[in-house]
Amino acid sequence: MTSRIIGTGSYVPAQVVTNEDLAKIVDTSDEWIAGRTGIRQRRVVREEGTSHMAAEAARKALENAGIDEKELDLILMGTTSPDHCFPSGACEVQEAIGAVNACGFDVSAACSGFLFALSTMQAFIQAGIYRTGLVIGADCISKLVDWKDRSTCVLFGDGAGAAVVRAEDTGVIHTVMKSDGAKWNVLSCVSRTGGNFINGITTEPGFITMDGQEVFKFAVKTVPACIHQVLEESGVSIDEVKYFVLHQANYRIVESVAKRLKQPMDKFPMNMEFYGNTSAATVPILLDEMNRAGKLNKGDKIVMSGFGAGLTWGATLLEW
Ligand code: UT7
Repeated sequence: MTSRIIGTGSYVPAQVVTNEDLAKIVDTSDEWIAGRTGIRQRRVVREEGTSHMAAEAARKALENAGIDEKELDLILMGTTSPDHCFPSGACEVQEAIGAVNACGFDVSAACSGFLFALSTMQAFIQAGIYRTGLVIGADCISKLVDWKDRSTCVLFGDGAGAAVVRAEDTGVIHTVMKSDGAKWNVLSCVSRTGGNFINGITTEPGFITMDGQEVFKFAVKTVPACIHQVLEESGVSIDEVKYFVLHQANYRIVESVAKRLKQPMDKFPMNMEFYGNTSAATVPILLDEMNRAGKLNKGDKIVMSGFGAGLTWGATLLEW
């Protein structure tokens, strides 16, 4: 028994922030941002938080799957920007969608969050513990960036994507998940809470810090390697894969991965132009767009791959 994706959904905030808008607040330009990353605009929340976006994506995924929320046994939410330290955002989503029979918790793996959550769901389903689950990738990175730091603020956007999965004979074939804790400080964000026992002072809010070039080098090396690994361990040839749904951080990373895998670019859909890097949400938002556009047919082999803070990375091979 494995887990099959039977419905997808996504949500992005209505507010569009273009590269030109950012050039008014930091020393940057559309030419620099689009040329280096492929991003032209991103969606940024006004009022809504991570759980609101996640619940909206979840409702659409349930509708797409044609199942009732009460059928859900487990809700896993990949996020690094939950609205609260605790409880889990997954519990807030549970309440919002009325999934009264489910258990929910968050998975913290930054931009790899959706894949790590899907893999965790797969383990529960394969073990026969749960039958029907909701896997979400949701992040509100606009709350964590320093809007005066041009090296990070231009890269990210807010959004959520979700997939309903069910125990079936075909679906997820294999997953590879990895992390390298020695590089945790290449991309990080300090915790926002911190009363101090000695002097009572609360920690100042921290922002995302990143060594962009280090992340770039890590991604173009590890992503092709783990895609090769997931295919080899499954006995599936790379030419059988219809689409590679990669984390949408930078079109140059996607192009470099395609080149290293010796695969044509039309197997690598991209949408970072419109949403920027939405962290754990990039893969499920793109998957939902492809699903709704009718690009995914039963039996298609798809590889999804993510990378991000941790450093974490991974790849999942599935049959649609
Ligand atoms: O989910 C994972 C999240 N992280 C990533 O995916 C990051 C991966 N890394 C990257 O995508 C790229 O490294 C970046 C897009 C972040 C940066 O591109 P780069 O080609 O590595 O540029 P750089 O950091 O080497 O900076 C080149 C120049 C520097 O100026 P000098 O020192 O050459 O004068 C930067 O100060 O570009 C400058 N710069 C900017 N200029 C205009 C940095 N940010 C900006 C900006 N606008 N927003």
